[in-house]
Formats: sequence, C-alpha cells, structure tokens
Amino acid sequence: MKHLTTLKELEISEIMHLLDRAEDFKKGETKTYANMVFANLFFEPSTRTQNSFIMAEKKMGIQDINLNPEASSIKKGETLYDTVKTFEAIGVNGVVIRATEEKYYEQLVGKINIPIMNGGDGAGDHPTQSLLDLLTIRQEFGKLEGLKVLILGDIRFSRVAKTNIEIMRRLGMDVFICAPEPLKDPAYDYIDCDDAFGKVDVVMLLRVQHERHEHRMNMTQEEYLANYGLSKARYAEMKDHAIIMHPAPFNRGWEIDTDLVESPKSRIFKQMDNGVYARMAVIERALDRA
Ligand code: CP
Repeated sequence: MKHLTTLKELEISEIMHLLDRAEDFKKGETKTYANMVFANLFFEPSTRTQNSFIMAEKKMGIQDINLNPEASSIKKGETLYDTVKTFEAIGVNGVVIRATEEKYYEQLVGKINIPIMNGGDGAGDHPTQSLLDLLTIRQEFGKLEGLKVLILGDIRFSRVAKTNIEIMRRLGMDVFICAPEPLKDPAYDYIDCDDAFGKVDVVMLLRVQHERHEHRMNMTQEEYLANYGLSKARYAEMKDHAIIMHPAPFNRGWEIDTDLVESPKSRIFKQMDNGVYARMAVIERALDRA
C-alpha cells in the first residue's frame, strides 16, 4: 500500500516509472483488480480529477463510491479523519481525496490503513496533475531535462504551479515564472512575461482562481490577458515547436484567448486524456504490494 500525497516524497526514478506505466496503459496494457472498491471524496468542486479517477477505476475493474459532501455527515460536523476511517471500516480499498485544507493528509497518514491518493489540497499540491503534465510534455519532446517552461498567472493560489515548479526543477527543466504582483508567491523569483514567449518550449497557463481572492484583482479581463495571459499576439511569438498547456478549467478571455484553446499548439485536451492513464499508474502503485 502506497499513499500519493505529494511528489516531493518520490524519487525521480519512481516518477519516471509512473510515467512509463501511464504510457503502457495508454498503449492498451490492462490491469484488473477484482472485488475492489474506491471512495472518491471531493470536498472541493472537480470535473477532471474526480471523473478521470472514476474512469481510471472503471478501466481497472474497481467499483467506485462518490461521496456527496452536501448529503453526508460532514454537514453534521463529522471530521475528515472520521469520514475516511468510516470508509476504511466499511471495506473500501482506497480513497481519493480533494480538500480545501493544505496538507490535510498529515492527519490521516499513519492512522489509515488504505491508500490515500491526493486529488489536490488547497493551495498545496496536485500530484496527479503534475504527472499528467509531465507525461504530456514527454510525449511531445521525448525528454524532460533541459526543456524551458514558462508558468504564468495565479502562482499564489495554484497547487498545480507549486507542484510543477518543484518537480520540473528537480528533473532539470528550466522553469520561468511570471505573475501579477498580488498573485505572486514570495518563494519564487519572477521574470517579465514578455521576455519569455519566444524562448520557451512550453507555455503553461494557470486558472485565475477568483474564488480564492479576497478582492477581485484591480485589472480588467483585457488587461490581464494582455499582460499575464496568452493573447493572439503572444501566440504569434511562440517557437514553431512550442506547446500550450493549462490544467483547466480555464477562464476564456482571462488567461487564454478563447480562440487559442483548441489552436494547433494547444495540448489542453490531450492533458485531460493523459490524466486517465496517469491516474491508472497511481492506482497501480497504491495497490501493488511491491
Ligand atoms: N485540473 C483540475 O484539477 O481540474 P478539476 O478541478 O476539474 O479537477
């Protein structure tokens, strides 16, 4: 049994193995776990992570329970620990959790005897998103080391950015970061976005997380797109081989011009496809004894 809480705990060799297994599953390899049930506990909204985990579970013969927090005893004040312990008690074999609290898993690890797969913890980590992002980049370029990546936008609230910056730098990728002042995380150094579009292999956009901002930014949609998003003018500057990525959901017209979402350089829907196979690899790791 292996939890997946954050990629920081994984060696590079383990991450490469997960990408290799995801590729195997994408090419048609199958693995079936009979008589197993997973519970997907999503306390924050999700379309991609929750449903691609469900798809991965179904492809692997695992039955799924999907908790509706609004109709659960969470509403009566039951804790996350007691909720997860309940699923363990009723015989569930693994849990996928997305929660608002950063590092929520620290209250569970060591006390829960079924694997926990982190589907996102507040502004902390999003390990399966990074795996599918790395898979998408490796499919495109045949390698990761040495590639130049621009990550721009709402760095402060983005678990995707934080997880990717850490693992990409550990993998020897050159990561440039750009953000408007209120959305910077002081942990990083920043560049001027305009300096980077013509130089990088990957432009990774981030959703403006309006719901996490105390006050909406003092910037119009048009200003944000021109300065911190991907406009048509910036698209024209990108290298011929460069690609666009976005974890989605996207705010069309804010971080990306709506016409660029399905442009030739966009790999946004390919990322979603890869999400199923990355999560199959994570499930295999969680359940295999080795
Ligand atoms: N990328 C991502 O985590 O999307 P969802 O919030 O829809 O799961």
